[in-house]
Amino acid sequence: MKSLYDNEMNLEFLSRSKNEAFARITVAAFAAQLDPTIEELADIKTAVSEAVTNSIIHGYEDTEGIVKIRARILDNTIEIEVSDTGKGIEDIELARKPLYTTKANLERSGMGFTIMESFMDEVDIESVVGLGTKILMKKHIKKDEEIDEIENADLTAIGGR
Ligand SMILES: Nc1ncnc2c1ncn2[C@@H]1O[C@H](COP(=O)(O)OP(=O)(O)OP(=O)(O)O)[C@@H](O)[C@H]1O
Ligand SMILES: [Mg+2]
Repeated sequence: MKSLYDNEMNLEFLSRSKNEAFARITVAAFAAQLDPTIEELADIKTAVSEAVTNSIIHGYEDTEGIVKIRARILDNTIEIEVSDTGKGIEDIELARKPLYTTKANLERSGMGFTIMESFMDEVDIESVVGLGTKILMKKHIKKDEEIDEIENADLTAIGGR
């Protein structure tokens, strides 16, 4: 069956902290086909790292499970889903709040969702207690023409052209 997307990939791995780097680098390698800037790539890596770390630390806690990532590209937008079948989030609205953490004793700062929201264009959270959590993030990667337009607008603004 032909995909509605321009490209897709799926990744599954055990919820071990050493797999966080593997996940973030793999998604970055997939995103590279959109020709992102170093900054856009760093944003994607950081957001993936936060979501994967959450699945490992909060979703599965002391147990071991599977973390899944699905990344899809359509035009110049990348959609990244990170999901676990761990314990789930009781209050999603509260979990999104800056500085909210259920693991303050483990030196967590409660900034993971805030970071994902600031680095990605959209962040949706679906979670059911006892069933698991799915984070859907989207980011538009600017095309070279868009970057040129922004640079020209900046120059006009400062009277350069
Ligand atoms: N995959 C998940 N499964 C279960 N609970 C989660 C999951 N992701 C987040 N949470 C809950 O949402 C809270 C907020 O997450 P967030 O990433 O913003 O902060 P944190 O992980 O506690 O701290 P930090 O990310 O700064 O280290 C967590 O403390 C946890 O209770
Ligand atoms: Mg976190």
